[in-house]
Amino acid sequence: MAKILVKKSKALNGEVNISGSKNAALPIMAATMLAEGECVIEGAPLLTDIYNMKNLMQHLGSSIEILDEGTLKIQQNSFTSHESPYELASKLRASFLVAGPLLARTGYAKIALPGGCQIGSRPVDLHIKGLGALGAKITQGHGYIELSCKKLKGANIYLDFPSVGATENILMAASLAQGQTTIENAAVEPEIVDLANFINLMGGDIKGAGTDTIRINGVKKLNGAKYLVIPDRIEAGTFMVAAAITKGNVKIKNVLPNHLKPISAKLREIGVNIQEGEDHIIVQGCDKVKPTDIKTLPFPGFPTDMQAQFTSLLSTIEGTSLIIETIFENRFQHAAELKRMGANIKIEGNFEIIEGTKQLSGAPVKATDLRAGAALVIAGLVAEGETEVSEAHHIDRGYYKFCEKLKSLGADLTRIDD
Ligand code: UD1
Repeated sequence: MAKILVKKSKALNGEVNISGSKNAALPIMAATMLAEGECVIEGAPLLTDIYNMKNLMQHLGSSIEILDEGTLKIQQNSFTSHESPYELASKLRASFLVAGPLLARTGYAKIALPGGCQIGSRPVDLHIKGLGALGAKITQGHGYIELSCKKLKGANIYLDFPSVGATENILMAASLAQGQTTIENAAVEPEIVDLANFINLMGGDIKGAGTDTIRINGVKKLNGAKYLVIPDRIEAGTFMVAAAITKGNVKIKNVLPNHLKPISAKLREIGVNIQEGEDHIIVQGCDKVKPTDIKTLPFPGFPTDMQAQFTSLLSTIEGTSLIIETIFENRFQHAAELKRMGANIKIEGNFEIIEGTKQLSGAPVKATDLRAGAALVIAGLVAEGETEVSEAHHIDRGYYKFCEKLKSLGADLTRIDD
């Protein structure tokens, strides 16, 4: 099991390049299954989640080649299986995204439930409702969902909640359905826009992505395309917080500052200096910082995927801060670990009350999930002594060369692979 040893570090300084977005690359990989030609995906971060998606798609018949750092050549000549098996599907939540394309291309998909995970139960009912509305017959049993149809038909779908994954699955399936589909109360995350842009480049007809009403005119066939994935706004946000907590001065390159607005706004509120360029952000920490309140919300609200990292930051700012988590029901596991480091955090339902302290202290802690892991490493940068973050493999799911990038900014840390 990998672990990361973090020592109290000086203020981070320098420049860091942000990788392509994991959460955009995963659905885009799934969408290549819709195409009858070769796709080239550039800017895909070579993370564990991407390799796990690759393994699953190869099982279904995709031929996937990694051309160089971040470029994937994918072709779906034929389908060798209609089943997303438990061993492969359980490795990542995004495995469920193969349901829409597999169903739309072949008329049958048997998909293992992605299962719960540490941050909450994460059901797929909205995906199923949407695919059902497009005409799929659905049965469920023994941990699998079976979907079948002769031909998917366009429909009006209202999502009870703007689920990112459900919007993506419906978007992909509807692209090859007969007639028009409207998704209302759709997710508006930048990753949805990226997926729609990719499908349109393949010959799809999607309008309104990025708003809460998306219209999809089904087409008979989609072709291969070459596409560059957007930068990862959560990786960027994580480095912004690392710069802020160490009171450093870091230029974060290859970002779309518009995607970072909710994060930049909160950091500014705290007292951090943020300068936005066209494709970069400069973060300058400041001694005079103050506590704040945060409520996680769907985009353009504050992202739940940045909640743990801000908990670390607010734990070091004197005064009381409040974080309300509204997206996932069990996403405060980092709090117990941060408490080992001297953080003063109280959890009441989905409220996290943080009494900032002057000095955290290094301790052995566990990365309970991806973002929690990143949050603990960040806290370790300013904690007295040494912090040992175990189960660091969680961090590999979402951060490409995390330790190397932090080290290049002056962080004092070492990764140990047993
Ligand atoms: C995606 C992101 C994840 C991010 C999340 C919210 C990927 C691979 N992951 O996850 O990093 O934290 O968006 O921004 O892109 N829900 C249901 N029924 C469903 C689907 C979702 O009740 O059928 C609930 C979930 O349990 C959760 C909420 O809706 O409470 C948000 O989930 P969703 O937007 O679907 O997130 P994901 O697509 O799983």
